[in-house]
Amino acid sequence: MALVAVGVSGGISAYKAVEVVRLLQKAGHEVAVVMTRAATRFVGPLTFEAITRRRVITSQWTPGANADIEHIALATDAALFLVAPATANTIARLAHGLAGDFLTSLALATRAPVLVAPAMNTHMYDHPATQANLDLLRSRGVHFVEPGEGYLACGWVGKGRLAEPEAIAAAALRLLSPVRDLAGRRVVVTAGPTFEDLDPVRYLGNRSSGRMGLSVAADAAARGADVTVVLGPTSLEPAAGLRVVRVRSAREMHTAVVGLRDGADAIVMAAAVADYTPAGGAAGGKVKKQDGPLTVTLERTVDILADLGRWRAGRAAPVLVGFAAETSDVLAYAARKREAKQVDLIVANDVSQPGAGFEVDTNIASFVTAAGVQSFPLEAKTALAARIVDFIAGRLSAGAPRTPAQGDQA
Ligand code: CTP
Repeated sequence: MALVAVGVSGGISAYKAVEVVRLLQKAGHEVAVVMTRAATRFVGPLTFEAITRRRVITSQWTPGANADIEHIALATDAALFLVAPATANTIARLAHGLAGDFLTSLALATRAPVLVAPAMNTHMYDHPATQANLDLLRSRGVHFVEPGEGYLACGWVGKGRLAEPEAIAAAALRLLSPVRDLAGRRVVVTAGPTFEDLDPVRYLGNRSSGRMGLSVAADAAARGADVTVVLGPTSLEPAAGLRVVRVRSAREMHTAVVGLRDGADAIVMAAAVADYTPAGGAAGGKVKKQDGPLTVTLERTVDILADLGRWRAGRAAPVLVGFAAETSDVLAYAARKREAKQVDLIVANDVSQPGAGFEVDTNIASFVTAAGVQSFPLEAKTALAARIVDFIAGRLSAGAPRTPAQGDQA
């Protein structure tokens, strides 16, 4: 049994936090509720007080609240700090370290893992300011329960609805007793685009953000793996605790992966690697414009995944996972890619569908393995990442040999 601090901020879905608290209690945990002033306009503190049988903290200015330096005591005692719902304003304050109320002071004072369940109007969620704040928190190791899509209380339809209480409680319980099924395993994940330089100022790139690969890396690390991310040029910040090797071109990515493949238990090629690069490399000086059209000759890059597949043939490890982004005949192309590249799993998705592919944080994927196809509904990339890591953990526990990790006893 652990003590969970639940921070409730002022959104219409604050009432759902009541059910989250009950579910945490049902799982045997004790809950202390902290509310922002705005939250108390949506749900009465008395409701939480009655079900938690603890004083609900709504302000640091309440007489007596400082006698035991309450936020420090709760900060030390809590095994998890869950913020549900987290409004755009609360997320911004958490991201920037503001500490103007009890909830945000607690966030700064605690060393416990922090889990945030955002809820807001869909345009507020999509706003670059909110997205940048979410990225900032993610890069500091804050965990999230992605909001759902659908009809919002404000009357709009879109992403921003607080995740269901069951999903929030399940995520909290996972953090309270983390699965460490990849402890001692080494995982390499590539993520992001590659840029192929044409000259000192221009390049050929693609729209990959790196979000899918970074989610896989974060999930594997949370489950105890020693994770190295080979990261192409992207503005996303990798989660805390990952080893990061930054690369630019397909060639650099290939060199980095070859350097890491020995001793890896699994390699996930989530990067969108360029298939072509300017023949002969980038021009030394800036290419000047001419009157007529410009012809650039491109040559093939090394297919890193296929190269790994050839190298792995005859070996028991690592588990190899690739992606296939398609716009038609998704499963047929993916099955062909899996065989041609000799990999264990191809995560296939139709990038022409809304909610799938680049620059969004959801995906609609199918797993293509030697055993067949398994398709999943639209879901957060973090949820798909967990499935991919489940697949890897399953393969490893089914017999891929464990390679000794640094610091392991011989
Ligand atoms: N990949 C790679 N090296 C490359 C290109 C792709 O390792 N030079 C990997 C990607 O990381 C991904 C998978 O291969 O895991 C994608 O397969 P690919 O056949 O390249 O897909 P597309 O780029 O979509 O190719 P195509 O145009 O043939 O559909």
